Amino acid sequence: MSQNYKIAVIGGDGTGPEVVNEGLKVLKAASKEFSFTYETKDFDFSGKRYLKTSKLVDDSDVEELKKYSAIYLGAVGDPDVKPGIIEKGVLLKLRFSLDQYINLRPVKLYDEKFCPLKDKKPADVDFIVVRENSEGLYKGMGEFKDKGTRDEVAIQISYNTRRGVERCIRYAFEYARRRNKKKKVTLCGKTNVLTYAWDLWQRTFNEVAKEYPDIATDYAHVDATTMWFVKNPEWFDVIVTDNLFGDIITDLGAMIQGGMGIAAGGNINPEGVSMFEPIGGSAPKYTGKNVINPLAAICAAGMMLDTLGETKAAEAVEKAVIKVSTKKLKSLAAGKMGYSTTEVGDLVAKNI
Ligand code: IPM
Ligand code: MN
Repeated sequence: MSQNYKIAVIGGDGTGPEVVNEGLKVLKAASKEFSFTYETKDFDFSGKRYLKTSKLVDDSDVEELKKYSAIYLGAVGDPDVKPGIIEKGVLLKLRFSLDQYINLRPVKLYDEKFCPLKDKKPADVDFIVVRENSEGLYKGMGEFKDKGTRDEVAIQISYNTRRGVERCIRYAFEYARRRNKKKKVTLCGKTNVLTYAWDLWQRTFNEVAKEYPDIATDYAHVDATTMWFVKNPEWFDVIVTDNLFGDIITDLGAMIQGGMGIAAGGNINPEGVSMFEPIGGSAPKYTGKNVINPLAAICAAGMMLDTLGETKAAEAVEKAVIKVSTKKLKSLAAGKMGYSTTEVGDLVAKNI
């Protein structure tokens, strides 16, 4: 029986709507080829709307989104809105209120020519970061004391629950098993300094690992991890880490796979509604110019298909992305691809 999916589409800010259009083009091609059907509905959660109406994402929006099979998001961030407002009021609001507790970020190099590292080949850059997506320093806990005075103190708390840490680590082990590559999970932390949070993470990691005797384990401090990403990316298979470390290392990860133009991610609630997005920002400088690389958004659509259970369609999307990027594109950077945004979308759709 073929499935019908309900996809909530949030173009968002800047180049978000442009790249999402290309992803939807590819989704359409995949649906024809793999005989599933879907309907989409647009949701305007953007900086422009906020400036007009002061509205962000409210609880009734969240309830509405719970009726969907998945959410497909372009980008958040508007230069005319104070930093933090849209990020917190749209992106983090959705991640938190839909309990998308995993942020899954593949780091995969499709062609040597896109890699800034010397002598690294696609086989060397192929791992995935499982970023905890609901706690840590992103929880927004903290306070000011004596704000505005010379004695001011600003406290920002990293909030880690056993339950939150465990479900994330377990997801990473399950993922390593399913992925079936090096079958290795590396915990990326800071046990030598952050001795509360990372003690909990390390203990939980060790306990969960016992249930997965077929999966090898490793540990790397976050600072060393950034070094290994550049020096020996081939050591990694699945990396599990907290919210902030995951945020930071996946920007570096994006660079070694060819840049933000190709880096996709999924905010996953394995029991609920997940949201897929290119991990780059809204790129105001390139907005409306038809030059931004839509491949990250297209890869995010592929991840969405995979999560929905359309595995064959997801594989076809990846294959088409590999073919187009390696055979046609000069670079993955905006304005340097040798093709426009819409042309790249057309090429991928044609290759499904
Ligand atoms: C990301 C982004 C977000 C984050 C911002 C926009 C809130 O950098 O998805 O990595 O910090 O998680
Ligand atoms: Mn980030």
